[in-house]
Amino acid sequence: MAQINGNNTLKVASLFCGCGGMDLGIQGNFKFLEKYYEALPFEVVYAVDNDPYAVKIYNDNFTHQCEVKDVRDIIPQEVPDHDILLGGFPCQSFSIIAQNPPRLGYKDDRGKLFFEMVKVLKEKQPRFFIGENVKGLLSANHGKAFPMIIKEFENAGYYIHYKLLNASEYGIPQKRERVFIVGFRKFEDYFNFRFPHTQTETKSVLKQVIDPNANQDEKWFFSQKAVEGMLRVREKMNKGRVQDINQPCNTISSHLAKVSLNGTDPVLMINERYRRFTPREAANIQSFPLNFSLNSVSENRQYRAIGNAVPPVLMWKIAKSLVNIL
Ligand SMILES: C[S@@+](CC[C@H](N)C(=O)[O-])C[C@H]1O[C@@H](n2cnc3c(N)ncnc32)[C@H](O)[C@@H]1O
Repeated sequence: MAQINGNNTLKVASLFCGCGGMDLGIQGNFKFLEKYYEALPFEVVYAVDNDPYAVKIYNDNFTHQCEVKDVRDIIPQEVPDHDILLGGFPCQSFSIIAQNPPRLGYKDDRGKLFFEMVKVLKEKQPRFFIGENVKGLLSANHGKAFPMIIKEFENAGYYIHYKLLNASEYGIPQKRERVFIVGFRKFEDYFNFRFPHTQTETKSVLKQVIDPNANQDEKWFFSQKAVEGMLRVREKMNKGRVQDINQPCNTISSHLAKVSLNGTDPVLMINERYRRFTPREAANIQSFPLNFSLNSVSENRQYRAIGNAVPPVLMWKIAKSLVNIL
């Protein structure tokens, strides 16, 4: 590998880091489903998120510390020098799930947060950046938002590759589809980069990550009343999304914190009873390692942070593709 800096690592700055799915993935050195994802030559030197609960989880799991901060308060000149900027910029307003209010796209205030990423890129000019967002970004604002976002990144001085990836094709037991935008300051890097290969022949499935102990705890099962309520409206609406445990799970989101049988969130059917996922199972579905600590915040906060995360295994594979071109 080419000499990158004094200690052969690339420095990483992470905006909107949440509980650290991207950050864990890019650094590597973790295990998921008996497979070891080796340490990669990246070192996170700066991490920011404005959710103190996600930050608490983050700081329980990484040696470097994340700051609770609104990215709009960042002064780009004060961000430490780095080689790669990460940003899973908030997606609510680009999401096609967010129907009420409908499709706000980049007109919404939260949709503008990616401009904060652009500001840091313009000032610090790292060699690479990786952005992540929901599939709906590609079609938001009648297809107008995405080209505008790409143009902004290009104007900041970057060549861009982007791709919609389905996590289930990369060894993760979840059909999560997300757009990844990878930016390169040098044309040569852009030219050489390839997104990771899919591994469709060996999919990981839900039964590999569900916890049989949770089947013994009444707490995780929906009440009879909730089931009856769901059955009353079921004919009209497609509710109560029971998962096939021999397949990857449907996408989990931060909404799991409020999971109900009257929503479209995935649930389990155990001995003919509906059961929600535990926060640990949600983390497993997202490919976090079993030793990733969650417990210092409430279960609701755990669901929220985990549901928002980028699957670490998927991020590891993208980061590994970057390592291949160094
Ligand atoms: C999609 S999640 C990112 C997940 C993260 N990249 C990961 O892999 O775990 C978006 C994050 O943006 C954070 N966020 C939203 N608005 C913010 C703001 N104004 N300043 C800082 N962070 C913000 C949220 O708290 C959330 O953690």
